[in-house]
Amino acid sequence: MTTSLWKSISPQTGYPYLTEEIEVDVAIVGAGITGITSAYLLSRSGKKVAVLESGEVAGGTTGGSTGNLYSMIDKRLHHIQSKWDKETAGKVTRSRTAAVDLVEKLVQKHEIDCQFKRVPWYLFSETNEKDLTIEKEMRAAADYGLEAKMLYELPIPIKVSQALKVENQAQFDPAAFVKGLAANCDPRNCRIFENSPVHEIEKGEIHVLSTPHGKVRAKNVILATHTPKGIYALQTAIYPYREYAIAARLKSGEFPEGIFWDTEAEFHHSLRSFSKDAEQYLVVVGGHHKVGKAEDNQHFFDNLEQSARKYFDLGPVDFKWSAQHYKPADGLPFIGESPDERIYLATGFSTDGLIYGVLSAMIFADLLNGRENEWVSTYDSGRFTPVKSAKEYLKENIQVMKEYLKVLPGTSDADDFSEVDAGEGKVVDHDGQKLAVYRDEEGEVHCLSAFCSHMYCVVDWNNAEKTWDCPCHGSRFKINGEVIEGPALKPLEQKDFTS
Ligand code: FES
Repeated sequence: MTTSLWKSISPQTGYPYLTEEIEVDVAIVGAGITGITSAYLLSRSGKKVAVLESGEVAGGTTGGSTGNLYSMIDKRLHHIQSKWDKETAGKVTRSRTAAVDLVEKLVQKHEIDCQFKRVPWYLFSETNEKDLTIEKEMRAAADYGLEAKMLYELPIPIKVSQALKVENQAQFDPAAFVKGLAANCDPRNCRIFENSPVHEIEKGEIHVLSTPHGKVRAKNVILATHTPKGIYALQTAIYPYREYAIAARLKSGEFPEGIFWDTEAEFHHSLRSFSKDAEQYLVVVGGHHKVGKAEDNQHFFDNLEQSARKYFDLGPVDFKWSAQHYKPADGLPFIGESPDERIYLATGFSTDGLIYGVLSAMIFADLLNGRENEWVSTYDSGRFTPVKSAKEYLKENIQVMKEYLKVLPGTSDADDFSEVDAGEGKVVDHDGQKLAVYRDEEGEVHCLSAFCSHMYCVVDWNNAEKTWDCPCHGSRFKINGEVIEGPALKPLEQKDFTS
């Protein structure tokens, strides 16, 4: 079973599910860092807010993140300078720095127990092939006043060619932070509902959001769902990827404070430590792939572990988990109003989502209170950037077109239920239907339509998390068909396998 470190150790919340019809100024879908920070800022500015979360607060991608906070970015600041321009890269750096500062301020103000601390961030190359990347990133960091310096060795036992160290970045427990912030939303203005998945949004002068047992009517909606729910053209410009993480106790030695990013290694992209019950844990993150496109998801965990054991004396892997991110075609997130009036979205965060989530909330709080926001044009959700997006756009959308060919007969994993072993899932061609078939350990067959409820791509089995994952836009479903994440609003259709 996969279990995130943060989700496992943070206290349960226990918010009720929605059982009535209510009206608010702002309905927020999703109670991760974007949704809860938005709820906090908006409720404290006097807006009536309802947060609708399909599972638990911080139980989605936020609870599966690294807990690292930094002004630098996954796709490299110098790439933003060359793809966009120096001014845009400067705005990205300054806006991200402002978001880290806000997190720190909130932690201090409300004494949120989430192990927030300022630490250095490192980027290193193990061979000289990526030295140029380090040098360019060093110059970019210096361009925007970040306190950066070059190193030729690290305080961890990995030999490097070059490394960049940026001071004054930060780490925390993301689930503990979000739960702590949720507890400090203005109780007069904010209601949070867990286990309240939104399965329909009727758009209008007043938007109506339906959950299984209640409705919210709201003039404004924030889709704080990592990718917008429903169908938006924007989904052709953001691409879903999964990444893997393990946490194991350090049996000997100490891991220094800091966030360590490797430019080249496939299986130990990011390293950090975390203390729990006087023990120090090593958290290792890496091994990303397009959603629904891995032959063997479990293999990513095994590779992370083998790689980490080469350098560190570790106990058993106590926690392993995976999380999703959406890469934007032109390198920047989309934050702002959607083509649907007064429905706001925030997506395309790549692996930098904790800070972009907080930044999105800052932008939404200003927009919905009629205030100027200096970052809003940088992350304009309605931008059209064909030149900057062309390469990624073509590559990713040709792949999506190929996925649609899987609706044809003869493209499934199996032709018969008997080919599905216990504990395994396969797409089966059966009587002209495509079925997503899982056989549990007791031999019982769970059968669903294999067509994703979003836009009818064929889903794929994820053997590490026992889920059905859609390679087109990243919707993921439980073995009972319920939506876990992604743009899909409806579950996979149940099928009687005898029919
Ligand atoms: Fe869009 Fe599945 S997520 S078709």
